[in-house]
Amino acid sequence: MAGTITYTMIKPDAVAAGNAGAIIKMIQEAGFRIVAMKMTKMSPETAGKFYEVHKERGFYGELCAYMSSGAIVPMILEKENAVEDFRKLIGATNPAQAAEGTIRKLFAKSIEANAIHGSDSDENAQIESNFFFATTDKF
Ligand code: CMP
Repeated sequence: MAGTITYTMIKPDAVAAGNAGAIIKMIQEAGFRIVAMKMTKMSPETAGKFYEVHKERGFYGELCAYMSSGAIVPMILEKENAVEDFRKLIGATNPAQAAEGTIRKLFAKSIEANAIHGSDSDENAQIESNFFFATTDKF
C-alpha cells in the first residue's frame, strides 16, 4: 500500500521570487496536510549530505552550491498516495517538460532552479523528512 507521507522543500529560486505563499496555497488546495514546516538555509556541507545519492552526477557540485545559496522552505506533507500525487502536482523535473498547471510549469526557472522538490519513494520520504525534522517538529 502506498504511504501517506512525502517530503518537499521550496527551493531558493521560488523563495527569493516571493512565490512560497502561492506554492503552499496550491499544496493545501490539492489536499495535502502540512505536518511540519520551517524556513531555513542549508550550508554547502548539509546540501552535499542531502544530495549524496547524486554525488557521481556531473551536476552535483552546482546543485549543492545552488541549494545552499538562499532560503528554502522544507515541509512534510500528508495525504493518501502522497509521493505519487505530489509528484503529479509539481510536474516533471525539467520545467520545459512539466505539464500545464503544475507547480514547476508555473514557477520553475530551469532544471536546476526548479522551484520545488518532491520525494521519489516512500522510503526516501521518510529519510528526507528525518533529515530536516525531529519527531517533536511534526504535528
Ligand atoms: P530534485 O528532483 O528535487 O532533486 C535533484 C535535483 O537535481 C533535481 O531536482 C534538479 O534540480 C537537479 N537536476 C536533475 N537533473 C539535472 C541536470 N541534468 N542538470 C542540473 N540539475 C539537475
